[in-house]
Amino acid sequence: MNKPRHIAIIMDGNGRWAQQKGMPRIKGHERGAEVVRQITTFCANHPDIEVLTLYAFSTENWKRPKMEVEFLMKLLDNWLQKELPTYQKENVRFEVIGDISRFSKKLQERIASTKEATKNNTRLTQVLALNYGGRDEIIRACTKACQNGQVDEEHFEKYMDAQLGDVDMLIRTGGEKRISNFLLWRIAYAELFFSDTFWPDFTPQELQKMLEEFARRHRRFGGI
Ligand code: FPP
Repeated sequence: MNKPRHIAIIMDGNGRWAQQKGMPRIKGHERGAEVVRQITTFCANHPDIEVLTLYAFSTENWKRPKMEVEFLMKLLDNWLQKELPTYQKENVRFEVIGDISRFSKKLQERIASTKEATKNNTRLTQVLALNYGGRDEIIRACTKACQNGQVDEEHFEKYMDAQLGDVDMLIRTGGEKRISNFLLWRIAYAELFFSDTFWPDFTPQELQKMLEEFARRHRRFGGI
């Protein structure tokens, strides 16, 4: 039976969820953050899951209206502050991938202090992809690998933003069926799951159903 060590999620549909309810898009992000907590807690209590990587802000998301970008930054800052007790209670280590140098100094400090405070937690690593693009990460890793004359598959992982290992399950909510530049290197053999559910309505029960399907799938990794 397949064991899902690393789950990655493209949390899509926040804006549409809110608009459907006649609310501003930011209300969807607010509700989406609550769902991040529920899913993280579920994964931290699952015997097989070690890494949960969540696409929270892409390199393309800067194109959104300034007010929405500012709201997402503020939400993240408040959320990290508020969530620290949950990370500690659930024994979750917080990690980030992406280029956060464009974020405010305050947010960068909040990210660094959350990483530091949770660095010895061992049950689950929760990774937020922030100002993240899969191609961007590969180019940055290649640059470092070239500088060290070590461009091969065996050593490549250590030049990535964080050492997380391959993704086993890639989930996208919100109805679209695309990868959107997420984790390109690590999803080479990932099993793909697409759900029409908007992220704010996604539940641990739906994830559990996907895990059951994952267990039944035949993974061949190019073999027969
Ligand atoms: C995609 O929905 C979602 C995002 C771009 C942001 C994801 C952010 C969250 C889930 C909340 C914040 C997270 C944390 C960890 C605090 P969309 O806005 O593209 O939705 P749409 O496709 O319906 O417009």
